Amino acid sequence: MKIYLAPMEGVTSVTYRTVYKRHFQGVDLFFTPFMVATHTHSFQGRERRETEPFQADTVPQLMTKDASVLLPALLQMAQLGYERVDLNLGCPAPTAVTKGRGSGMLKDPDALDRFFDTVFSHMLSREKMHSFLEEQRASDPYFPNYADAAFAFLNSEELRLPDLSVKTRVGLSSHIETPALAKVLARYPFREIIVHPRVREEYYSGEPNWDSYQCIKESVSVPMCYNGDLRTVEDVERLLDRFPDTDRIMLGRGILADPSLPRQIHKWVQEKDAMHTGNVALPSYRNTSLSDASLSDVSRMNPSLSDASLSEASLPDVSRSNPFRSDAFLPDVSLPDSSLPELSAGSLSSGKMSLQELTFFLEDLKDSYRQVLSGDRDTLFKLIDVWSYLGTQFPGHDKELKAIRRSKTLKEYEAGVAGILPFFCPEQSSSGLR
Ligand SMILES: Cc1cc2nc3c(=O)[nH]c(=O)nc-3n(C[C@H](O)[C@H](O)[C@H](O)COP(=O)(O)O)c2cc1C
Repeated sequence: MKIYLAPMEGVTSVTYRTVYKRHFQGVDLFFTPFMVATHTHSFQGRERRETEPFQADTVPQLMTKDASVLLPALLQMAQLGYERVDLNLGCPAPTAVTKGRGSGMLKDPDALDRFFDTVFSHMLSREKMHSFLEEQRASDPYFPNYADAAFAFLNSEELRLPDLSVKTRVGLSSHIETPALAKVLARYPFREIIVHPRVREEYYSGEPNWDSYQCIKESVSVPMCYNGDLRTVEDVERLLDRFPDTDRIMLGRGILADPSLPRQIHKWVQEKDAMHTGNVALPSYRNTSLSDASLSDVSRMNPSLSDASLSEASLPDVSRSNPFRSDAFLPDVSLPDSSLPELSAGSLSSGKMSLQELTFFLEDLKDSYRQVLSGDRDTLFKLIDVWSYLGTQFPGHDKELKAIRRSKTLKEYEAGVAGILPFFCPEQSSSGLR
């Protein structure tokens, strides 16, 4: 099972993604929040930082309704090193929809069909792309903004356009629209189609419509990825009951609420597969609490260690030499009191994060935001936003969650968090900076 972190504008920025990767494993692919490509062909500031420098595990997501804007943007992404780009067909925000972008593109399936026809006819023919670029060079006043990428493409047979995937809703106003959309999507060689089976009018309310998901799934022959309301291992289990061949899922709010969710899902899938093959002594995910907290410990002591070397370094020898060894044989070093309540049926080894692990993650997130944002106020807003998702894991802490939500300074925020996370230490983390 491949697990993707959903793009979430304002939340899953490069800062969040980088910190996330330092503390949690299990996400196979990350997506940038949407970057609006425009006729000026130039990405600025925040959007640039999402894709530069190149991140091999990340897919840039673009939003535009113009083929003549998308094609240059694809060239720019190719020049940065990206082999795949995702196009946003799902954003429900009025600012996008009224301009015909995001889920606004779903309004007219014929127009969508013409759009993809133009895009793919250029993507699939170098000759056609060459003539397009020659025309642009003669007529587009903003051509200089992507001239480097254009010439790199014209002068090298090696530089190819990235593959295109789409992340889409299943219609604009009603699920009646889904079959027509499916018909359009079925005509093109997308790298992958990621479907969030709600229509735009639903925003995020109600249940995702699995019949609409099935409608698209049965129509297209390219790989499909399911996205929408997967918050627990049980949710994934239900999805697999209905669609047993699912081999990729995208998680958004579920990961924000519980950053260890991908680890739990991988572990559950491994155990399930082991049951089916009769090889039951399998779980290769490590014990929940201390082993994962020690990951963060190692990271803090030696930030230069890569994720890969980190996980190697922190694993007990016995587990490293035998990745299929059952957790039951690891030394019993977990800290049950610090573990969050189990979400899934199972034991402490479900992969659920410990409070200690969450604490290290949040401290790193705070420090990292402070380095890139202009002031503590912006950092505070980001952290409060993260807690709006995390808070769902702490139902007995209304008072502290309210304090976090209402905090006006990082100090007040930290006092609120310390009421929930026993390892969180405001004195140490504030380091006299405010
Ligand atoms: C705050 C927020 C920002 C989002 N930003 C984007 C975005 O930039 N691009 C996109 O394709 N989807 C965006 N989405 C939609 C999510 O990627 C995802 O499709 C949606 O949250 C459903 O998945 P989930 O139930 O796993 O969260 C956003 C959703 C939220 C709540």
